[in-house]
Amino acid sequence: TIADLKGAKQGRLSLSVVTTAKYVIPRLLGSFCQNYPAIDIALQVINHQQITQRMLENKDDLYILSQPPEDIDLCTKPFLDNPLVVVAPSNHPLVGKTQIPIEALNNEPFIMRESGSGTRRAVQKLFDKSKVSVRVRLELGSNEAIKQAIAGGLGISVLSKHTLNSYGDQRELTTLDVVGFPIQRCWYAAYLNGKQLSVVAQTFLEYLLECGKSH
Ligand code: PGA
Repeated sequence: TIADLKGAKQGRLSLSVVTTAKYVIPRLLGSFCQNYPAIDIALQVINHQQITQRMLENKDDLYILSQPPEDIDLCTKPFLDNPLVVVAPSNHPLVGKTQIPIEALNNEPFIMRESGSGTRRAVQKLFDKSKVSVRVRLELGSNEAIKQAIAGGLGISVLSKHTLNSYGDQRELTTLDVVGFPIQRCWYAAYLNGKQLSVVAQTFLEYLLECGKSH
């Protein structure tokens, strides 16, 4: 298969990934494309609900998301951990405390992802289960904007650990050791069951699964 593809003049790969995966997938695509320079890629970075919509419309070869919808007939392969952590500004009073009870988040000003976000759904599920009600001060449709808002002192939030990676983040932001966190999740590569994957899509899927193993 790989030999076929290397010989192939061109191929097209259409991907949709959840917003947390944008911190990982473009880099993986970079190294993938060095091996297969003839492939063109279309990459959508959208939220969970928008991915579900694209699945229903059979828009892409592969989808990357955390909680594959159960009502769509999918083939899913887990490939990398995607834990959600509590993120606070580095001067937050709870910094340095260990095993902070989740109730301590009651009434904390909180920055929440938009409705339709998979991150939001996972957070809400844990808060409901733990009977925690945060004070949602701000709803934001971007992990990057949430990080800026946390650094600016607007509140705390729960984000994928993958969103925290740059040097600047480490100076301004920190994670809190709250009981119940990290929320353990993983990313799945998914495609519509019964869909015949192109050689390009099949090869990229295998590449993703390999990368997941070596992480
Ligand atoms: P989101 O999904 O971008 O919709 O929040 C992220 C995830 O579920 O990991």
